[in-house]
Amino acid sequence: MSLNIKPLKNIGIEILDFDISQPFTDEVKEQLRALWYEYGVLVFRNQDMNPERQIEFSRIFGPLELHPLKATTSDKYPELFELENGGDKDKHMTALYKGETVVGRLDWHIDLHYTGKPNHGAVLTSVEVAGEGGLTGFGDLAKAYEALDDETKALLENIEVAYAFSMQRRNMRYVDLEGYEPGPYSPKKPSDVRFPNFPESVYPAVMTHPISGMKVLGIVEQFLDRVVTPHKVGLSNDESIDLLKRLVAHTRDPQFHYFHQWQVGDMVLWDNWRAMHCTTGTPPGVRRRINRTTIEGKHTLGRILLDE
Ligand SMILES: [Fe+2]
Repeated sequence: MSLNIKPLKNIGIEILDFDISQPFTDEVKEQLRALWYEYGVLVFRNQDMNPERQIEFSRIFGPLELHPLKATTSDKYPELFELENGGDKDKHMTALYKGETVVGRLDWHIDLHYTGKPNHGAVLTSVEVAGEGGLTGFGDLAKAYEALDDETKALLENIEVAYAFSMQRRNMRYVDLEGYEPGPYSPKKPSDVRFPNFPESVYPAVMTHPISGMKVLGIVEQFLDRVVTPHKVGLSNDESIDLLKRLVAHTRDPQFHYFHQWQVGDMVLWDNWRAMHCTTGTPPGVRRRINRTTIEGKHTLGRILLDE
């Protein structure tokens, strides 16, 4: 059996004629893994989902990882991470963007970037969809790398960038802060959400995908802090800041993006070593529930800055 596919806009494919309730043959599993590496994002529609099926499906792609935010994992299924808008936790995720109150908006990011060892990917399934908002965006950092001019590509080969974890969006240097105001209940420090104090992490500005070998631009706006020792590549500090601003603007170019509008029965898998993602958030009070499983990252893409 060969899976039928349809390209999505700019990154990823939709897999047609797939039924998660049927047993997966080894051949299908192999095809799914190959498509995941080739296209970065896989979308399945109209699936008869339940947590057991999601967990079994996710294991095709590798061992599953428990998320550091243990407070929000399901009691019955520790592999399942329940993301919810419209409930008690909203107030901690609420902020003002240009006068508009938004719950759960997240900038472009790579999951677990701040650990130096991002998970390999994740599967999201929709349990309850928002009538308004609640989109998940994916951005292809392999395509973003390819689109750079040769001079920039050559320069980036010798550059490392540092990421500094922060709970406060207004402390992040490269996100768009225009018109942003944190909500009164926004967490102030990692321990407010039971996170440890993550040290800085460092990545090559051009990452090589451990499996596909694709070159991936290692620049993502969330937590991005600085070029490490810019003088080593002949850049002043000011020039290195301008370079990161230019690269972040490049990753924001819609030609690399696909925004998924959720319907009940949707399932989306992405490769976290290649695609950045974001969420648009929802207006206050809008209900939205997503179940998430996470595929472990056995390769280390970055390193942590502790004792240098
Ligand atoms: Fe994420």
